[in-house]
Amino acid sequence: MVKSGKINKKKILALVLMAGRGTRMKSDTPKVLHEILGKPMGWYVLNALEKAGIKRRLIVVGYQADQVKNAFPTEKFVLQKSQNGTGHAVMVSSKSIPKDVTHILVINGDTPLLTANAVNGAINKLQHDKCKAVVCADWTISPEGLGRIIIDDSGNFVAIREDCDLSPAEKDIEWFNVGLYGFEKKSLMVYLKKLIKTGKQKELYLTDIPGMMVKDKQSVELYIAQDDSFAVVPNDRIDMAEAIAMMQNRILSSHMKKGVTITDPRRVQIDHDVKISRDTIIQPESYLMGKTSIGKNTLIGPNVSITDSKIGKNVQIRMSSLEDARVDDNCVVGPFSHLRPGVYLKKGVKVGNFCEVKKAIVGEGSKINHLSYIGDATIGKNVNIGAGTITCNYDGKHKHRTIIGDNAFIGSDSILVAPVKIGAGTLTGAGSVITRDVPDGQVVMGVPARVIRKVTRKDKSGK
Ligand code: UD1
Ligand code: CA
Repeated sequence: MVKSGKINKKKILALVLMAGRGTRMKSDTPKVLHEILGKPMGWYVLNALEKAGIKRRLIVVGYQADQVKNAFPTEKFVLQKSQNGTGHAVMVSSKSIPKDVTHILVINGDTPLLTANAVNGAINKLQHDKCKAVVCADWTISPEGLGRIIIDDSGNFVAIREDCDLSPAEKDIEWFNVGLYGFEKKSLMVYLKKLIKTGKQKELYLTDIPGMMVKDKQSVELYIAQDDSFAVVPNDRIDMAEAIAMMQNRILSSHMKKGVTITDPRRVQIDHDVKISRDTIIQPESYLMGKTSIGKNTLIGPNVSITDSKIGKNVQIRMSSLEDARVDDNCVVGPFSHLRPGVYLKKGVKVGNFCEVKKAIVGEGSKINHLSYIGDATIGKNVNIGAGTITCNYDGKHKHRTIIGDNAFIGSDSILVAPVKIGAGTLTGAGSVITRDVPDGQVVMGVPARVIRKVTRKDKSGK
């Protein structure tokens, strides 16, 4: 009979193994830091633990330890100086395990598809009467390279056998060890001391411990994964692409369930942290990255790339690229515009048809509709920027601001040589070159440009 004694989650410590190099990635970056839709692979493991209510975590680091530490600044770490195997990784952590901890989860850092459900499933098994350890298993048609689950005729767990130690008959076993384990702490500590290298082992295998426990008639339970937590455990970049595709499916499904239309889910990329409100439509070749949020009823795409931007409701963005931008309600961006970092378009602004905007605040209802460059500018309300207007913000050494008052009308092909201020309601004629401040309500036109001297070497070098 299986009795249950509830384990207090506050007394569980999760050991997350991230010390390995991930040799098959062929990379200078440790495997757990390779990104999956805007987050390092290892982050997903920590997130699943957090969601499962496992707040006490210790990460084992080794290869590029500082990089891994910097990626997860709020976590606690222990250093495994030489990576002598998963058993060794747990051994070096044992001194850092607080006394009041009763149970230990061990999880490989390279299981990005892990869910809180799988973590809780393993914990539930660990709560069974007399259970000393839980081994999580899953099934795959191609288990090559993975540790296999050996069971007896009655289906009881016997041992985990690593791929290199399998007998020819055992090679056919399709149940594999996923790399998530639960242990009663006391038991784990006893068996860690007994761990030795056997057979073809070059390292100390954590995976030997459950089998040793069974030999000593200790109770070890199997937990069979109920979801796709372990469908891909990436070792190389081919696996990575698969893991990314699966994670993308999860993210897209969750948006669609909340009322977002994604017209062709195979042709978009939406990062983990992106937020989208209902009745927004995402059309093909849209890439929504980083910390981007998008309001209701907005149309994104086709061919749009948005990074770290805040987009309001009833906005339309087509064939454009935006980075670190804020776009308020009812704006229209594109086709073919580039909003570089530091742009803030207030309500109802239109920027489109081949425009570049950088570090600029554009007031409500203003229009920059054709072929313009607006950089380092503050533009008031209801300003019309004519086709081909350029802010000359750079004198070769420094950047300067252009300020344009409300209701100004900037004629086509105006050249605004910054620093310059154009007054409210002022009108500039087509082709004007504005080199000096213009007060409110004036009409200015003409080109002051005239030859003043030959270009010197100083002009060319900018020094
Ligand atoms: C391991 C398991 C195998 C299982 C597979 C699932 C062992 C011996 N084998 O094999 O049964 O089927 O995972 O993916 O555990 N790590 C350290 N320190 C070390 C070695 C590894 O922290 O000294 C970390 C790695 O960074 C990685 C995890 O442990 O996150 C697993 O190591 P890896 O080398 O990928 O083990 P596998 O050969 O995949
Ligand atoms: Ca692995």
